[in-house]
Amino acid sequence: MIGGAPAYAGVVETTLLADTHGRVASDLRVSLTDRCNLRCQYCMPAEGLDWLPDDTVLTDDEVVRLIRIGVERLGIREVRFTGGEPLVRRGLVDIVRRTHELDPAPEISLTTNALGLSRTAGALAAAGLDRVNVSLDTVRPESFAKITRRDRLHDVVAGLEAAHAAGLGPVKVNAVLLRDINDGEAPELLRWCLERGYQLRFIEQMPLDAQHGWTRGGMITAEEIFARLEGEFTLTPAEEPRGSAPAELFLVDGGPGTVGVIASVTRPFCGDCDRVRLTADGQVRNCLFAREESDLRAALRAGADDAELARRWVAAMATKLPGHGIDDPAFLQPSRPMSAIGG
Ligand code: 5AD
Ligand code: SF4
Repeated sequence: MIGGAPAYAGVVETTLLADTHGRVASDLRVSLTDRCNLRCQYCMPAEGLDWLPDDTVLTDDEVVRLIRIGVERLGIREVRFTGGEPLVRRGLVDIVRRTHELDPAPEISLTTNALGLSRTAGALAAAGLDRVNVSLDTVRPESFAKITRRDRLHDVVAGLEAAHAAGLGPVKVNAVLLRDINDGEAPELLRWCLERGYQLRFIEQMPLDAQHGWTRGGMITAEEIFARLEGEFTLTPAEEPRGSAPAELFLVDGGPGTVGVIASVTRPFCGDCDRVRLTADGQVRNCLFAREESDLRAALRAGADDAELARRWVAAMATKLPGHGIDDPAFLQPSRPMSAIGG
């Protein structure tokens, strides 16, 4: 053996996905499609977007291979499937099953709008899915139709119930508040979630919409969210250490119910980030707000072996910036919208 450690049969070397700011990524967010069956105002224009050409989207085999490399060689311990809307990806259940069969088996979760989840929750749980995060901003049909431009609230409610019944818990609900649309509904949404045993988290709106319509002044801040909730509930910080979790957790009226606030803009948590992203077309993004991507698809399709793909992935982490810089006057929104990056 010339140079390096001997390669024992079946044993691969692990290199961590470390950046130059002391952080290590172990949580992989995989976007399985940029398509979606809703048109949330903070994400997409009414007419949708130019979707990725089919031949640029990773096949099921390709996506599972990259996840396997992440898990076997790069210390990935959690895999979250996102979109667009991951439930519109035909091979989803199979991709989940194959991810669950990896060694060591990662924690697997899904960020979804829950349309159609009532039909697939059981199969997803059986395939090895651990948890879901459902995007739901309102429980009023009129507000739902206004925000998502589709009249599908009942489908989301059914999807949540099915996920809960299938054991995909704790079921988390992600909500974005929009000024003059649903910003008065925070207490009502929280009460609805608490009654059903769902963990609600409010997320500050981020500049990731395809239309570039985000403004700092238009965004409902964490402070406003607290003010609205504290009008009706007593919130006390939950004891558990936050670690790399983006949500700050609070007990509601002494518990056991909780509410989370993800203040990505006003209280950034970039310093504790343990995430890395893979887009549906096979690009590694070291940050949601990265302005550069690293093309694993081209290398993969040109015949690169696992070690070479792992090397490129490690190299892609070196340029991870310390923070998103939304407050910097020179901040530039990423060229791709959230639906093409994965949440
Ligand atoms: N700002 C904040 N959250 C967003 N999401 C989508 N777009 C934005 C945005 N611009 C949410 C979705 C989903 C999660 C992936 O991110 O509602 O819950
Ligand atoms: Fe679809 Fe999620 Fe974007 Fe809404 S936020 S349009 S559910 S991808």
